[in-house]
Amino acid sequence: MSKVESGNIIFGLDVGTHQIKALAGEVLADGFINIVGVGTHPAKGMDKGGVNDLNLVAQSIQKAVNEMEVFANCKASSVNLAITGRHVQCQNESGMVPINHHEVDQDDIDNVIHAARSVPIPAERRILHVLPQEYSVDVQERVKNPMGMSGVRMEANVHMITCADDMAKNYIKCTDRAEIKVEQMVFSALASSYSVLTDDERELGVCVVDIGAGTIDLVIYAEGAIRHSAVIPVAGNQITGDIAKIFRTPINNAEALKVKYACALKDMVNQEQTIQVPSVGGREARNMARHTLAEVIEPRYQEIFELVRDQIRSSGLDEQIAAGLVLTGGSAKMEGAVEFAEEIFQMPVRIGKPLQVKGLTDYVNDPSMAVATGLLQYGRAELDETQTIQKMPEESVFKRIKAWFKGEF
Ligand SMILES: Nc1ncnc2c1ncn2[C@@H]1O[C@H](COP(=O)(O)OP(=O)(O)OP(=O)(O)O)[C@@H](O)[C@H]1O
Ligand SMILES: [Mg+2]
Repeated sequence: MSKVESGNIIFGLDVGTHQIKALAGEVLADGFINIVGVGTHPAKGMDKGGVNDLNLVAQSIQKAVNEMEVFANCKASSVNLAITGRHVQCQNESGMVPINHHEVDQDDIDNVIHAARSVPIPAERRILHVLPQEYSVDVQERVKNPMGMSGVRMEANVHMITCADDMAKNYIKCTDRAEIKVEQMVFSALASSYSVLTDDERELGVCVVDIGAGTIDLVIYAEGAIRHSAVIPVAGNQITGDIAKIFRTPINNAEALKVKYACALKDMVNQEQTIQVPSVGGREARNMARHTLAEVIEPRYQEIFELVRDQIRSSGLDEQIAAGLVLTGGSAKMEGAVEFAEEIFQMPVRIGKPLQVKGLTDYVNDPSMAVATGLLQYGRAELDETQTIQKMPEESVFKRIKAWFKGEF
């Protein structure tokens, strides 16, 4: 069977600590993504969202991408790649340009964003994203779209996300070895937010928390824009490790026990219920109260949520997230996680599953697929922007292309 054209198909690759997820999605006119290919493979050689063994990671990527390509019956031309790790950092910056009473055009907007991002960044760091928050034109503040407005000067506030250049290079080395071209890198929680949030939540203020196996990644939106992002290097693997140690059972069994029987709130578990715990060294399996397992899990989830709460507090945005928290990532699937989070945060909490998808929805209707699906939504949003630029007057497009070549975008 010949491979189909991959013209309007976007590819996403989420190299997680636990699992690699590769997706292919066709951009539909109504803003939805038609999922046409899905590939997953257990991640080997990853730790806390970072690459530990280039060859093992490359092999895992290759397998997930091959599976996705067979599914989609097309070759991945280039992928949007998710990146995370404790080296990811953020900062809010602002810039100003004169507009001298003429109408603000696209070039003015580009220039003011350029001014805002022109802060010294250490050579060992790379800018991943410069996300506009709002503009002000003279005394008119909180302008979402200044296009066509008149004034003397314009200011822009932006949220910048940076990462360690070497850590980004390690991801690229793995994709190179797997012979996959990377279109762009996207911070994983930002990707997640593209697939699970509604516009209302962004406006009201919301925190997206992706709890995976190696890291907790979060972004906070307030008044429609991203204000804070962070990575906390604790997640599901620690919980599995605790279960393995405390119940003296191999890691694989601990993982299976966790996924099948664990609960984040011990009060939600029936005291009478018993489970079988396989032992190490050929010893016989033991019976144990399910409540005892929950007693091990609860403090870990408490720690996870308290670390997230500290991040939100330190960002100063705790009063500005009226829509509460949206949890994504595999560890969000733990029974009792939502109830426990609501208790700790005293805010509404929900599980985030990919929205605006069609096609192979059964495969992506899962919080652990939020990042991969978000990579496609992120790609779609960029495509929309390019198409808007293509409709702009020729001279303006020419100037932007010149700016791109100068490395300003
Ligand atoms: N039902 C469940 N209950 C609790 N935990 C679960 C459940 N299902 C999966 N997990 C956990 O979710 C984690 C995997 O989630 P996910 O696929 O989002 O992680 P990842 O993307 O590979 O890792 P990371 O984003 O941290 O690099 C594992 O730790 C797994 O044990
Ligand atoms: Mg992940």
